[in-house]
Amino acid sequence: MRERLPQITQEALQSIQIARNLEDLKNTRVRFLGRKGLLTEILRGMGNLPPEERPLLGQLANASRQEIEARLSQREMELKEEEKESRWKREALDVTLPGVELPRGHKHPLRQVWEEIEAIFISMGFEVAHGPEVETDFYNFEALNIPPDHPARDMQDSFFFTEEILLRTQTSPVQIRTMQARAPRLPVKIIAPGRVYRRDDDATHSPMFHQVEGLLVDTGVTFGDLKGTLETFARRLYGPGTRIRLRPSYFPFTEPSAEVDVSCTICGGQGCRVCKGTGWLEILGTGMVHPGVLQNGGYDPEKVTGFAFGMGIERVAMLKYGIDDLRHFFTNDIRFLEQF
Ligand code: PHE
Repeated sequence: MRERLPQITQEALQSIQIARNLEDLKNTRVRFLGRKGLLTEILRGMGNLPPEERPLLGQLANASRQEIEARLSQREMELKEEEKESRWKREALDVTLPGVELPRGHKHPLRQVWEEIEAIFISMGFEVAHGPEVETDFYNFEALNIPPDHPARDMQDSFFFTEEILLRTQTSPVQIRTMQARAPRLPVKIIAPGRVYRRDDDATHSPMFHQVEGLLVDTGVTFGDLKGTLETFARRLYGPGTRIRLRPSYFPFTEPSAEVDVSCTICGGQGCRVCKGTGWLEILGTGMVHPGVLQNGGYDPEKVTGFAFGMGIERVAMLKYGIDDLRHFFTNDIRFLEQF
């Protein structure tokens, strides 16, 4: 036993020295000083020694024990200090590191086109007007020469709240509302952008979409003014080489009426997939304001004339960017939106 004691002590001190962390150190303590520890066993075994050997051995064992305890607590302090330091290193805030960049959003492509259209007309002296999205049958249809049984209603299958109240199917009611608010002052020169609603849902139709209405009422407004205004608009939007053409058409609230095509924005008029080989793309409906509509707005059709037009913002944007499915605008897929 006397030989074992220094051996065990030596072993313990070595084990303490090489402990890499507090966990190692705890295991060392248990292995030597624990209830079944090596040194503890020696102290227990003292009972079997001849009485005259006990005091000396007891002294030696106690001294060992004290030394081991002392080294244990010293090493424990060292290890705690080391761990604290390495944690500081791990968690330290390095103020010289470059910051984390937050992704920056941008305007929705429809909003961009909306504002572009607005800016072009504002530069030509138009004001921006607005009207309600929940509209009466009178403003949405009747005042625009579309009585209850008129077949033109079928093309704008509508969301009705009551027989009299509906979600507007077009921005044209803003024509009437603006004229009524202004009459008899001249000129009336407005555009009216906003949401419209129709019961339609496929790759080129959405139950909610956007239109921009235009209205100019003044003395002596001619069909030439209409054409010049829309040609200027088309060139500003699609580029200076853009040509327009007018095809006869029909709207109840304009007479005569026309559909306006622009030379294809993709092929420049050669004929391609987007223009289906025709070289032309339809972008808006237009015409001279019908005398009855002027009258409903509070103006005398004998004294003033005017032109009006209406275009779909989605369609303008699809042609501008070559987008093939209108639903992309509304599904909020970041991979689509990021491209604008
Ligand atoms: N309101 C018509 C539509 O939605 C477009 C239009 C507006 C046509 C003004 C002529 C004049 O189809």
